[in-house]
Amino acid sequence: MQPIIRVADLWKYYGDDEQGEPALRGTNLEVAAGDIIALFGKSGSGKTTLLNIIAGLDRPTRGRIEIEGQDLEALGEQGRTELRRTRLGFVFQFFNLLPTLTAFENVFLSLELAGLPDPAAAGAALTSVGLAGKEGRYPHELSGGEQQRVAIARALVKRPSIILADEPTGNLDTHTGTHILDLLVDQCRLAQTTLIMVSHAMITCRYAQRILQMEDGIIMEDRPCEAPGP
Ligand SMILES: Nc1ncnc2c1ncn2[C@@H]1O[C@H](COP(=O)(O)OP(=O)(O)OP(=O)(O)O)[C@@H](O)[C@H]1O
Ligand SMILES: [Mg+2]
Repeated sequence: MQPIIRVADLWKYYGDDEQGEPALRGTNLEVAAGDIIALFGKSGSGKTTLLNIIAGLDRPTRGRIEIEGQDLEALGEQGRTELRRTRLGFVFQFFNLLPTLTAFENVFLSLELAGLPDPAAAGAALTSVGLAGKEGRYPHELSGGEQQRVAIARALVKRPSIILADEPTGNLDTHTGTHILDLLVDQCRLAQTTLIMVSHAMITCRYAQRILQMEDGIIMEDRPCEAPGP
């Protein structure tokens, strides 16, 4: 079966010339649809760079990325934006909710941008992450864990094929972080969404089928998880 993500010989130099150390140096990766992957690596090893390039938010210096068989470079800027809005969901360390919009509005906006403006779906997504009754709250009126729940609802509500999560528990205490991982992974399994999550916390292994280890801009280790999650 065709991989849902295919990354071939990816190089990234920040800046215009190819001076200095590249952030990615010939990274290769193939991801099967529905896989749950944990991406580990020291600070500066290139994890966020790789995710941003897969998301089409940044462009590689060299190499090829295909999402659902589509070459990102051939799609052009507009095509990449469209793909991001309809097929990809994001969860970030600092939640990245729009502060002037309520929880409901943050989730609804994601649907609008994907061309699916269904208020009932936005409400249902918030209920499914345990936020029924808090739809009208602004981000500053929610705890960190609750804000991350809104972000998960926002990512999943448009039924993307892939979720990219960059340290989704990085700003939460261990207890809250575990609940958030439970929720994120459960929801992705339910919807058969492919998930790549960047992490520093070893507990993330428990949730993944496959573990990638990045070192200095390359995936040095790629192994199945020994003990699949609950
Ligand atoms: N916008 C940028 N401009 C220049 N260099 C950058 C930029 N973003 C990242 N880098 C550099 O690229 C390398 C990889 O950074 P990246 O953010 O991908 O690492 P990371 O693995 O996500 O680290 P962390 O765990 O700290 O988030 C680092 O050396 C970093 O300094
Ligand atoms: Mg990072």
